[in-house]
Amino acid sequence: MVNHITHPLVQHKLSSLRIKTTKPKEFRQLVNEIAMLLTYEVTRNLPMTEVEIETPLMSMNAPWLACLKPALISILRAGNGLLEGVLQVIPDAKVGHIGLYRDHDTLQAIEYYFKMPNKMEQRDAIVVDPMLATGHSAVAAISALKERSNPKSIQFVCILAAPEGIKELQRNHPDVEITVAGIDQGLNKNGYIFPGLGDAGDRIYGTI
Ligand code: URA
Repeated sequence: MVNHITHPLVQHKLSSLRIKTTKPKEFRQLVNEIAMLLTYEVTRNLPMTEVEIETPLMSMNAPWLACLKPALISILRAGNGLLEGVLQVIPDAKVGHIGLYRDHDTLQAIEYYFKMPNKMEQRDAIVVDPMLATGHSAVAAISALKERSNPKSIQFVCILAAPEGIKELQRNHPDVEITVAGIDQGLNKNGYIFPGLGDAGDRIYGTI
């Protein structure tokens, strides 16, 4: 399933991100804000329970999150930009990292780092990467996650997706729900999303 978030705040912030003169400081801030808004949607169906609490006036049964803390999985390095905003909304979440780089000739994802929190089989995982372009990185990261950590469920959160990337991820991992702020026209010959926003990692970290 693809959850395309068309909320006006998300769309406005996404348009600001796309503008080529947006500087890294503002770019990071916008990514942060979009991440918070997307997290609000992604966590909509987290299981709830009730616990007894004391207000200054009386005791009451109050709603409380029932799940073990979710695991946020950042695909390095651009995923870290999104991670910050998600963590602001779910500060108790545990964090895992998967390091992948894109081979410039084949556009295939090569893994160089993998580190997860404990008890992953009891956690809901939210995988974050700003750009779902060819889908190779997302597919490789989620395959590694399933094989080595087997979380209870997996969601994928990104800012921009190309139709090719969505198709590739759905073909390989039909169980993974995708939440995305924008779905663009396609990929150019270098595997960049167009109209897109350029290289998300470079724009977050000012490495252009
Ligand atoms: N990664 C990016 O950062 N941008 C793209 O357009 C595609 C992949």
